[in-house]
This record gives sequence, C-alpha cells and structure tokens, in this order.
Amino acid sequence: LASTEVDLAKVVPGQGIKVSWRKQPVFIRNLTPKEIAEADAVPLSSLRDPQTLAERTKPGHKNWLITLGVCTHLGCVPLGISEGENRGQYGGYFCPCHGSQYDTAARIRGGPAPRNLAVPDYAFKTPTTVQIG
Ligand code: FES
Repeated sequence: LASTEVDLAKVVPGQGIKVSWRKQPVFIRNLTPKEIAEADAVPLSSLRDPQTLAERTKPGHKNWLITLGVCTHLGCVPLGISEGENRGQYGGYFCPCHGSQYDTAARIRGGPAPRNLAVPDYAFKTPTTVQIG
C-alpha cells in the first residue's frame, strides 16, 4: 500500500502509537502542552538539525508529531513511543543502539545521529484521521 489511514481518536495527549508504513515504523505522538512548550523553548541555534516544531507538524495540529521511527544514525527503532519507555534526557525518544537522544519535536539533541527523525508525507483527512503517504 502506498498510503495508510490512521484513526487518532483514542490517542490522548501524552500517548503515542506506532504504525507501519512501507515496512517502516511510523511514530504518531499526541504531545502534551508541556511537551509543545519544551520544544518551542529551545533556541534553534542550539540544534544540530535546526527546525521548529511548527515546521515539523501541520498548521492547527501542532500536538501531532508524526515521524519515522527510524534513528538517523544507523536505523534502529528508538524507544519512547509508548508511555513508560525510556524517552531519554530530552523527553522525546531514546535510541538504545548507540545512545542518540531526541527531544519532544523528535529533533536530534545528543548522541551520534546526524539528523532529526524524518517526517513522512501525510495529511489530515478529518480532525482525527490522518493519511500517511
Ligand atoms: Fe540510533 Fe545508532 S542507530 S544511535
């Protein structure tokens, strides 16, 4: 399938789900207001791969952080999409392979990975349905 539709109605703030798209894991996270504020508070000049949370999300849907669940170092699947998993020092995702740390916008903040988790093509079909791809 070239694209996949996901129902987000049951994903409450603070939760995330992992779906599969083109045989790759995609992380969909419903950010809390605190997680959004943390991402927005980071100066772009301090980032290895400078992007704002707004640039990494869709207008009106800044709480929905949708990225590939593929570490940009060597391709491991980071931890943190499920509550209770290690989200690392910056509250986003933590890659257990070599210790890359991603923040609440899934931007690289520490460890060897060179880039932020990639944002796939996607569009909201309804306020709670997203089409990936
Ligand atoms: Fe993630 Fe190396 S593959 S840190």
